[in-house]
Amino acid sequence: MDEKKLEEAVANPSNQGEMADADAVGTVGNPDCGDMVRMWVKFREGEEGEKVIDRATFQSFGCQTALAVASVATEMIAGRTVTEALAMNAGDLSKPLGALPPMKIHCGQMVEGALRDALSADTLPSPASEEGEKEVRKDSLSDSFSSPAFPAGGQIRIVPVEDSQES
Ligand code: FES
Repeated sequence: MDEKKLEEAVANPSNQGEMADADAVGTVGNPDCGDMVRMWVKFREGEEGEKVIDRATFQSFGCQTALAVASVATEMIAGRTVTEALAMNAGDLSKPLGALPPMKIHCGQMVEGALRDALSADTLPSPASEEGEKEVRKDSLSDSFSSPAFPAGGQIRIVPVEDSQES
């Protein structure tokens, strides 16, 4: 892992914060370390009518690696189609930071999970039809922590927030 790039991303993260006009949002938590990442995505239509990620932002209550991966990942996915973004795994999303050490691989996977949750079918309209209201969760990350699904001091499951009642 490139420690210098990690430090740069942590000191000056890109695209950090909620996105008021997001089209989709995804959240995951990690039960082992208690960290959590939320990602907001705004779409635009590509030249051939495909759904393109116009921009993405994130919030991270997690370790520095998760924050750095989310920073570089949100930079990388801007301008990519949803299909291209879904083809990226944690290694792809953290590539600018170099290979993550084994103990930090889950940090990148959490960012990948938040992105996949945001891009999942239940948070965005079908590419073929734009009718209907988009279901965008506007609650903040801290709201999620105070929800019954994430009891204080308890374990957090790696699941999209909407599936959290399975715990
Ligand atoms: Fe859990 Fe990094 S230690 S996300």
